[in-house]
Amino acid sequence: MEERRVALVTGAAHGLGAAYAEGLSRRGFRLALIDVADLGATLGRMQTEARAYRADMTAAHEVEQAVAAIKKDFGRIDVLVNNVGGFPSRPFTETHPEFWQQMIRLNLDSAYLGCYYVVPGMIEQRYGRIINIASGTVFKGNAEMSAYVAAKMGVIGLTRVLATELGPYGITVNCIAPGLTDTPGARQYTDGLKGEEANIARRAIPRRETPEDVVGAVLFFASDDASFITGQTLVVDGGNVRH
Ligand SMILES: NC(=O)c1ccc[n+]([C@@H]2O[C@H](COP(=O)([O-])OP(=O)(O)OC[C@H]3O[C@@H](n4cnc5c(N)ncnc54)[C@H](O)[C@@H]3O)[C@@H](O)[C@H]2O)c1
Repeated sequence: MEERRVALVTGAAHGLGAAYAEGLSRRGFRLALIDVADLGATLGRMQTEARAYRADMTAAHEVEQAVAAIKKDFGRIDVLVNNVGGFPSRPFTETHPEFWQQMIRLNLDSAYLGCYYVVPGMIEQRYGRIINIASGTVFKGNAEMSAYVAAKMGVIGLTRVLATELGPYGITVNCIAPGLTDTPGARQYTDGLKGEEANIARRAIPRRETPEDVVGAVLFFASDDASFITGQTLVVDGGNVRH
């Protein structure tokens, strides 16, 4: 059955999103990929039918158009991975209203808009798997990440409400919270993964986290094995247990 299913991954040009898309393609899903950046490299690694759509996930009309184009090309969307996000950090006293809004748009509105335009089709087909991406920082309250952590907590809240609301339609909604992972975004936002060593020292599994480490969680939530699991947030960070 999974080989006929269609998965949409947002922010699939680089980093974690590209890895999720590759993993889903290996499992036989057909792939719709959204990004503002060029998706050529990710498309080239797909083993199943895959198409790229350019859309800014913070702009409602662009998301609406991209979802309509995907439905026209593939007929349905079975799995939605709301992966777009970013985490430039700054002290709270420098978190001016424009920056705050920008972070909420990038990290919370993007997930809301993905759900808003994809959910009606899932309700109609009485099937769906929504996988939102939060962050392990929400459980730690990392300094200088107030807007990001607030937005990602919002993603967890959205996950829980949609799980309740959409369960009767055969739609599960879950969330994944990765730890600091080596991606182009993480390198950019943390000045080349500065601080990673301290992060690794707190892990039960004391090594660097790579995008591939998180793929299994996405594949699980997307699979029939997870059909009675909804509203949950799974932390994938090598066990951030040491203080
Ligand atoms: N890397 C980490 O350490 C880490 C940890 C926890 C959570 N996360 C979350 O995982 C997700 C992916 O992170 P990453 O590190 O792979 O990021 P990344 O910056 O490496 O990749 C993000 C991708 O999203 C695209 N993108 C950005 N804004 C977009 C927009 N408005 N519309 C469409 N596409 C857009 C970018 O072009 C890029 O391809 C984010 O939600 C991030 O917050 C990352």
